[in-house]
Parts: sequence; C-alpha cells; structure tokens
Amino acid sequence: MFSKSSFLSAILIGLEIVSAAAIGSVKRQTTDTTFGLYAYNKNISGLPVFYGDGIAYIGNAPPVNLTYESVNVTFTPQTSDSSTWAAKPNTTDVTWSTTPFLYINPTSGAFDSVGFVNSTSDLPTGATASGFLFYGQSVMYQGSSGSMDAKFWAEPTDQKDLWVLKWNSDGTSQGQSVPVVIKSTPPTTITRMMN
Ligand SMILES: *[C@@H]1O[C@H](CO)[C@@H](O)[C@H](O)[C@H]1NC(C)=O
Ligand SMILES: *[C@@H]1O[C@H](CO)[C@@H](O)[C@H](O)[C@H]1NC(C)=O
Ligand SMILES: *[C@@H]1O[C@H](CO)[C@@H](O)[C@H](O)[C@H]1NC(C)=O
Ligand SMILES: *[C@@H]1O[C@H](CO)[C@@H](O)[C@H](O)[C@H]1NC(C)=O
Ligand SMILES: *[C@@H]1O[C@H](CO)[C@@H](O)[C@H](O)[C@H]1NC(C)=O
Repeated sequence: MFSKSSFLSAILIGLEIVSAAAIGSVKRQTTDTTFGLYAYNKNISGLPVFYGDGIAYIGNAPPVNLTYESVNVTFTPQTSDSSTWAAKPNTTDVTWSTTPFLYINPTSGAFDSVGFVNSTSDLPTGATASGFLFYGQSVMYQGSSGSMDAKFWAEPTDQKDLWVLKWNSDGTSQGQSVPVVIKSTPPTTITRMMN
C-alpha cells in the first residue's frame, strides 16, 4: 500500500519527468547544430526536403528519373557563417567527398529551384548560399536589404506526392505551385500522438 506522502512524491517525480522532457525538447531546438528540413502547407504535412541530383525535392518517394542520386539530408550551419547551411547524407549508404551548401535565387523575378552546390563558385547567376536563419522553427532568408523573407513554394511534378522546392522571389502565382513553410520540426511526434 502507498502512503499518502509516497503517492504524492510519485506524482511529483512524474511531473518532474514530464517537465524535464518538455524542457529537453525546447532545448533541442536551440542547441542542436544539425537539423532536417520539412515542408508544410494545407496539403503537405511535414514531408522531408531531400537532395536529388543537386536539387531540393519535397516528398518521401525519390524521383524516378535522376541520373545520380537522391538522399535525405541533415543540415549544419557553417562555423565561418552560420547562415550558410551544409548538407550531409542522413544515411551511411551514401558518402560525399564534398559537402554541398543549400542555395536559393532571391533575384527579383526569379522562380528557381532551391538547390545544392559543392562550392559557392558553382552557384547559378543571382543565387546565394548565405542568409538562411530560423524564425522560431521556420526557415527564413535575410538578404542585404535586411528584410526577412520566406518565399518557399512547392511545384508539383508528374510523380505523385513529389514536389520541387522553389524560391518565388516575387510571390506571384506560378502555375500549379503552392506556398510552403519550411521547418526544422519533423511531423512524427504529432502523428504518433494522434494514432
Ligand atoms: C535521419 O535519420 C534519423 C535516423 O534514422 C531519423 O530519425 C531522422 O528522421 C532522419 N532525418 C531526415 C531529415 O531524414
Ligand atoms: C490542396 O489540395 C486541394 C485538392 O487537391 C486543392 O484544391 C488545393 O488548392 C490545395 N491547396 C494547397 C494549399 O495546396
Ligand atoms: C558534389 O560532388 C560530389 C562528389 O564529391 C558529386 O557526387 C555530387 O554530384 C556533387 N554535387 C553537386 C550538387 O554538384
Ligand atoms: C527519406 O526518409 C523517409 C522517411 O524515413 C523515407 O520514406 C524516404 O524514402 C527517404 N527519402 C530518400 C530520398 O531516401
Ligand atoms: C524528373 O521527373 C520529375 C517528376 O516527374 C519532373 O518534374 C522532372 O522534370 C524530371 N526531370 C527530368 C530531367 O526529366
């Protein structure tokens, strides 16, 4: 039989575990240097952003028509510039001798794929691999003007549940493309809790 006090302390220990877990998960967001990226909108509920032949795709099933490879990646801010994010394969099945950087083309009028380059000298005209930051858990881009933008759009492909991640500089309507929010938070926890 539990005494009143041991019952109470059991509750308190329980609370401590809960709050420690809560604090732990908050801490994780601010201290983790490596993160995955996930896309969200009304119809896309946290699908991974992955590498496919130097282009950023959104989805689980890899594109069937790639020449080289597709792989899930995690990102690490560079120590020399924390707004430049290096991508690493999230599996030991793939090894890269170089570390590609995420880039966008923020040039006015551009509606270009978000991509990866092994070297900033490989950047397409107008593109940049610097200026990424988090606003809460959402990815933003801050250019020289100082304004923070999130102009990520998902362009559907011929393949079901597969999109190309793009940056829509002017935010104008672009065919079947839709705006997405890119976050470091995976959807897994919510899914598990609802199941
Ligand atoms: C990376 O792999 C780990 C372990 O398999 C997994 O938990 C995580 O969701 C993966 N992240 C991405 C971005 O694929
Ligand atoms: C969500 O999907 C529905 C049905 O396909 C479509 O009509 C709607 O435009 C989509 N919305 C977004 C934000 O993708
Ligand atoms: C980066 O270099 C690796 C070889 O180290 C190559 O396999 C990969 O395709 C290159 N990626 C890009 C985006 O150029
Ligand atoms: C990325 O990880 C997800 C979840 O583990 C998996 O379903 C998907 O096939 C992976 N994508 C690639 C390109 O390997
Ligand atoms: C590969 O397939 C995707 C999805 O169907 C399509 O959007 C893209 O244009 C194709 N790329 C090439 C090089 O054929």
